[in-house]
Amino acid sequence: MNILFVCLGNICRSPSAEAVFNGVIRKEGLDHLFHVDSAGTMAYHAGENADARMQSHAIKRGYNLTSISRKIQPEDFETFDLIVAMDNANFRDLKRMAPDKDAENKIVKMTDFSQEHNYSEVPDPYYGGAAGFELVLDLLEDSCNGLLRYVQKKKLVGE
Ligand code: 4NP
Repeated sequence: MNILFVCLGNICRSPSAEAVFNGVIRKEGLDHLFHVDSAGTMAYHAGENADARMQSHAIKRGYNLTSISRKIQPEDFETFDLIVAMDNANFRDLKRMAPDKDAENKIVKMTDFSQEHNYSEVPDPYYGGAAGFELVLDLLEDSCNGLLRYVQKKKLVGE
């Protein structure tokens, strides 16, 4: 199963989602069943490493952010089975970019899979302080566990 995590800049939230979800599936021994990637709805930070603040918060929890920022491409709507938006603006932008109904139906929101928190989006941490980066990781750990449960329950991946 191919899963693409998407935020605005692809330097904070979606690289973290990619690393957290990779951690979840690795822990469960299911990493061979997934292809996981991330992208941004804008190209402003294309080619850059993840934000240094996000990296330092993530590494404290054992997540190494290795992705290089890239903008989502039209072919991503074909390659990926599930396109996971971090916030409502990303969700709207992706819906607008989707080439057809099939592609539109692949777009979901990260917090749809949240089990412990009551947030309707993963808030943008870029202009805020340390607490915002911690909140991103809290929401992603919760939602990524929920996402794996969802794909297993829906039998979207094999054994
Ligand atoms: P991200 O965070 O969408 O989680 O990667 C942001 C990164 C950069 C900007 C905004 C949000 N920016 O305005 O440059």
